Amino acid sequence: MADDLKITASNKEEKYRELLPQIEALVKGESDVIANLANVCAALKYGMNFFWVGFYLVEENELVLGPFQGPVACTRIQKGKGVCGTAWSKGETVIVEDVDKFPGHISCSSLSKSEIVIPIYNNGEIISVLDVDSDHYSSFDKTDELWLKKILELILY
Ligand code: SME
Repeated sequence: MADDLKITASNKEEKYRELLPQIEALVKGESDVIANLANVCAALKYGMNFFWVGFYLVEENELVLGPFQGPVACTRIQKGKGVCGTAWSKGETVIVEDVDKFPGHISCSSLSKSEIVIPIYNNGEIISVLDVDSDHYSSFDKTDELWLKKILELILY
């Protein structure tokens, strides 16, 4: 992707603001979680021009690849491993400005440069994580965390 296509801090919030009601309309009235997760991935990937967007679902004490958009990815991640497993074990959002500087980062594509992972809670337990990758360094900040969490609130588990 060319640098001029990078989402800048100034237009990021505007894009999320436009996307939120669109995602709300997409998931409203649909009770199937997988269908909604799949549409959220597509809306985020193409609406925000991200490199990879996907969910890893907690299954028998592992994260297992769920709905995603982007290149093929690793299917299972152990607790505490990589960015996803770290967000899961810490129970908090992890933002990585340069994936090569994150110890234990699991590289699914050499094109991925920065990443945000947000754990998703249900009844006090983490049931999945949202993983968003960018092919630019330092793409994610608190604005992404805020808006991605708003989007996640639209999905009924
Ligand atoms: N980089 C992630 C693994 C998933 S891929 O980015 C799609 C991690 O370190 O957990």
